[in-house]
Amino acid sequence: MAKTPPADPRASLDPEDWETLRAQGHRMLDDILDYIEGIRERPVWQPIPDEVRERFRSEVPRAPAELTDVHHEFMRNVLPYATGNVHPGFMGWVHGGGNPAGVLAEMLAAGLNANLGGRDHAPIEVERQVVEWMRTLFGFPDTATGLFVTGTSMANLIAVLVARTSALGAGVRRKGVRAGAKRLTAYTSAAAHGCIAQAMDLSGLGIEALRVIPTDDHHRIDLDALKATIAADRAEGATPFLVVGTAGTVDIGAIDDLAALAEVAKHEKIWFHVDGAFGALAILAPELAPRLAGIERADSLAFDFHKWGQVPYDAGFVLVRDGRMHRSAFASPAAYLRRETRGLAAGSPWPCDFGPDLSRGFRALKTWFTLKVHGTERIGRAIAHSCELARYLKSRIEATPELELLAPVQLNIVCFGYRSPDANRLNAEIVIALQESGIAAPSATTIDGRVAIRAAIVNHRTEKQDIDALVAATLAIGAARQESAAA
Ligand SMILES: Cc1ncc(COP(=O)(O)O)c(C=O)c1O
Repeated sequence: MAKTPPADPRASLDPEDWETLRAQGHRMLDDILDYIEGIRERPVWQPIPDEVRERFRSEVPRAPAELTDVHHEFMRNVLPYATGNVHPGFMGWVHGGGNPAGVLAEMLAAGLNANLGGRDHAPIEVERQVVEWMRTLFGFPDTATGLFVTGTSMANLIAVLVARTSALGAGVRRKGVRAGAKRLTAYTSAAAHGCIAQAMDLSGLGIEALRVIPTDDHHRIDLDALKATIAADRAEGATPFLVVGTAGTVDIGAIDDLAALAEVAKHEKIWFHVDGAFGALAILAPELAPRLAGIERADSLAFDFHKWGQVPYDAGFVLVRDGRMHRSAFASPAAYLRRETRGLAAGSPWPCDFGPDLSRGFRALKTWFTLKVHGTERIGRAIAHSCELARYLKSRIEATPELELLAPVQLNIVCFGYRSPDANRLNAEIVIALQESGIAAPSATTIDGRVAIRAAIVNHRTEKQDIDALVAATLAIGAARQESAAA
């Protein structure tokens, strides 16, 4: 229990004794670096015991406590029960592993406490530099603009809003979507992430205005079905305005034929957006980059650095080809945000002109550090390595009679199952048991009505031994559950 120190009459939150704070700060830094360095010694994940969960029910802390005590509380009650995505055995959903340079950069960013909504200061230049790097990397013209956001969900929403403004004109911002005579429709595949439908919802266009196009055998958007649906919508008086391709579908990592989508969009004169949440950064791996051909023709691209880019959460990003359109979808003049040509209010346009956030943190710094410290070649190598591991896992599954592949392995995601007459129930149980074992943490999904154990290899720390541990634990759990079900 923290003892209540005597009331401090000072308003400042800085310490009276900087030396003590400094020593404590070094301990905290050591602890978190120890955590990362020794991550293999820990379970990937463990459930939160009831008594620990109970500790998060305490009252608002009115009196001060010692930093040391709060840090102890963190070490005891928070750190051991984190998601586990720093661990090489974490393969659930699509989670990046982070990296120590990014951690240290985040600490520096917190110290600067910069607000990247706008104004003229070097942190904005850091963000602009990353925007420029991404613009060149993805082959966008120099009219393109970009912005850090929370994650790819937000980046996709921003892109849908810019596409909406492009279709309806900037008047939509005042009058709303109902004011226009047009009934806008958008198109994406059945394998697209749910945040695309959510973006249609949030943009006021409605989820039903998103046409969900079936996929082919490779889980890519069916181009003939896409063209037929656009034609049918036009015939019914709708205005097709947006097609969303995916570079790395969330379930199995499929990449739509982006060049063909670019052609369809050009022919139909509609906005071409790419959701490249994790897959877009495959551009850093020379052996994978050709599969993204056509991405350079997108009107907008959403992705993030916190998955395959290994930047600590969160670091979403959106790139828009037509920077003027991007700005006209968001810029909102206000007297208190007056721009100047000199002084701190110089440097317009500001990031707040390109998205809904005014106050914004310095996400760019941990990204800038990660890119500079490791270099894009090394990050690309880690990306290619996770695809090699996925192929290795595929070969292990094919060589193991008890297991079967449930989807083609195209990138870094493997969906498989334990063969059983009661496979759906068994595989859902195996996923939970694997997570609870602390050995590996895949997640579950459903492929063609079948529950799959889904291993998304994203973490740069994952090695063959982690894949072997996943297979061994799956077999052991599967056999034990089959036996107990038979008994
Ligand atoms: C294809 C795809 N799009 C969008 C998202 C959402 O990204 P975020 O979690 O960064 O919002 C994901 C997340 O896995 C994804 O795989």
